[in-house]
Amino acid sequence: MEQTFLMVKPDGVQRGLVGEIISRFERRGFKLVAAKFERLPDARVMEHYAEHVQKPFFPGLKAYITSGPCFLMVFAGKNIVKISRDMIGATNPAGAAPGTIRGDLALEIGMNVIHGSDSVETAAREIGIHFKPEELASYTRIDEQYLY
Ligand code: TYD
Ligand code: MG
Repeated sequence: MEQTFLMVKPDGVQRGLVGEIISRFERRGFKLVAAKFERLPDARVMEHYAEHVQKPFFPGLKAYITSGPCFLMVFAGKNIVKISRDMIGATNPAGAAPGTIRGDLALEIGMNVIHGSDSVETAAREIGIHFKPEELASYTRIDEQYLY
């Protein structure tokens, strides 16, 4: 089953949105297979955001993402990478559609509540950065026969 890496950013944690965000993915039918709560070390932020390290917004992004604990998750399900990106909404919440996480819960690009992997390849890379293979659980959700 396809997997993706999702992370509630420090603003989402501070605003008490962790439960709401987990709930949206669980209710859609996606299976939680790993989770942890931690403040990201600088080196891991550089690796995670390698494509953005040279961009002008990176110093602000790094300060924000390390400002407090994040809630890191791996979720699994059919087409989860595309569907979760659609559920998250546009990078800039100002243009994110209502009904999406950013469109319902955020206002500023600099504090947009959640990260989600943007492709199947990125998901594998990001899961590997943040989780050890043994941290991922393997189980069958009781409702899977009604989802697939
Ligand atoms: P990006 O990977 O383009 O967006 P997404 O999170 O939707 O995959 O950018 C990573 C994060 O960097 C983004 O969530 C918010 C921040 N960011 C800025 O602060 N300013 C910007 O101009 C951009 C493009 C991103
Ligand atoms: Mg991205």
